[in-house]
Amino acid sequence: MKHVTLYRKYRPTNFDEVVGEKDIIKTIRNSLKRDSLAHAYLFTGPRGVGKTTTARLIAKGVSCLKNGITDTPCNKCENCIDINNNNFIDLIEIDAASNRGIEEIRALKEKINYQPVKGRKKIYIIDEVHMLTKEAFNALLKTLEEPPSHVIFILATTEPDKILDTIISRCQRYDFSSLSFSEASEKLLEIAANEQKEIDIESLKLIYKKSSGSMRDAISILEKVISSSVEENITLESVERILGIIPKEKIEKFISIIKSKHIKEGTEFLDELWNKGYDIEGFFKDLAYHMKDMMVADNKDFEVSEYIKIIETIFDVLNKFKNEEDKRLLGYIIFYKILSNNEDNVKIIREIKEIKETEEEIKPKEKIENNNITFEIINEKWKEILSVAYSNKISLKAMLYTAKLYKYSENIIYISFPEESAFHRDMMIRDEYSSILENAIEEVLHTKIKTKYVLLGNNTVKEKTDDDFVEKLVEFFDGEIK
Ligand SMILES: Nc1ncnc2c1ncn2[C@@H]1O[C@H](COP(=O)(O)OP(=O)(O)OP(=O)(O)O)[C@@H](O)[C@H]1O
Ligand SMILES: [Mg+2]
Ligand SMILES: [Zn+2]
Repeated sequence: MKHVTLYRKYRPTNFDEVVGEKDIIKTIRNSLKRDSLAHAYLFTGPRGVGKTTTARLIAKGVSCLKNGITDTPCNKCENCIDINNNNFIDLIEIDAASNRGIEEIRALKEKINYQPVKGRKKIYIIDEVHMLTKEAFNALLKTLEEPPSHVIFILATTEPDKILDTIISRCQRYDFSSLSFSEASEKLLEIAANEQKEIDIESLKLIYKKSSGSMRDAISILEKVISSSVEENITLESVERILGIIPKEKIEKFISIIKSKHIKEGTEFLDELWNKGYDIEGFFKDLAYHMKDMMVADNKDFEVSEYIKIIETIFDVLNKFKNEEDKRLLGYIIFYKILSNNEDNVKIIREIKEIKETEEEIKPKEKIENNNITFEIINEKWKEILSVAYSNKISLKAMLYTAKLYKYSENIIYISFPEESAFHRDMMIRDEYSSILENAIEEVLHTKIKTKYVLLGNNTVKEKTDDDFVEKLVEFFDGEIK
């Protein structure tokens, strides 16, 4: 099925589906019922609140073949369908923002006297009409003075102050406004239900807040949340993650870790943040602001000098490493810098190395010679291995989507990724993923074989292991691991 953005998919196809703007919708419906539409309309209001949507509904109400001029277009006749598909010959949409309308208005002047082809009227929707050039504006004004009776103009703008009074006075004007929380939620709930997702009130509130009353923006946020969450329900956490908002509890938790100077806990905390897809830079910026607030509030958890030092460290490292792609590394560096402000870097680095090594030990490194195993055998069994692995963790399928079996050498299977899949490669390096694949290999081939994950780009093989990570860290601190 073709992917359609949700706000297009859920663009109202009749007036009942429009939320908010009750009075405007009622008046327009009445004039359709009574066949007493004006020749020109001006719709003003913020982005994404239904101006174009309403304009198209008018076009449909005027053109429906089945129900006549109507406020309940059938959505089934040829004209209704063509309008729904943006493909109706008598509906001409001009986007004044794109080339300021010079060509279009010229064409409009030339063709305006032609009768409609399939509908009852020719409908011109001119979006962002305030962007028209002066000449185009004047041309438009002329046509508005004496519009042919087979034409309806609907002008839309987000900036009514820029529209000449002479234009405004020739139009019936409707000012659309931002949607209220309950109006926006009504639509969001409907869409979520349709997409088989439940959404709670806290999530709705946050989406509404972030969309500042624009229905289109609200639907876009909802769409991102839906497409990125595997869970049945939409929770505040998933919305926050999409919006890059770090929950306050997470910041408070991390501050308590800083206070307790617990390196292992901090490392795990950052790993989890990273695993869950939080924006690490954003997290530390929020942390810095939170620290500043604490300091201003005279919170005694830290000395003033400590607050300043921590805030300084955060911005200093963020700035120095703004091009570092490995954001988890960035997190580690800031964390260790904060802890090591008065301590010996080398000692801390040693401790990290110990943590990393203990992690390694959990996975026993058995040396088994697999003399009988060849690349061909692995290749032959590869599909089976993958299906075993996927059955144990379905998300592996997403990680390995672009991956290829690359080579086998010295008891190691190398798996390659195209350069643009660096993220997936980075995920696969992690024990929680690689172990599943290695277990599947063992299950199918009856022998233990390790895996390595390489990036293939411009004929070069870039290998990356978790060791690089510690190395980079060491490099930064200039410490030495002994
Ligand atoms: N009042 C509304 N009721 C239901 N859905 C709406 C409403 N307003 C906007 N939408 C949704 O948002 C999308 C965009 O709306 P529309 O194009 O009508 O906005 P607009 O006011 O013309 O914005 P812009 O000024 O950016 O052109 C629609 O496809 C629809 O899904
Ligand atoms: Mg619009
Ligand atoms: Zn119809």
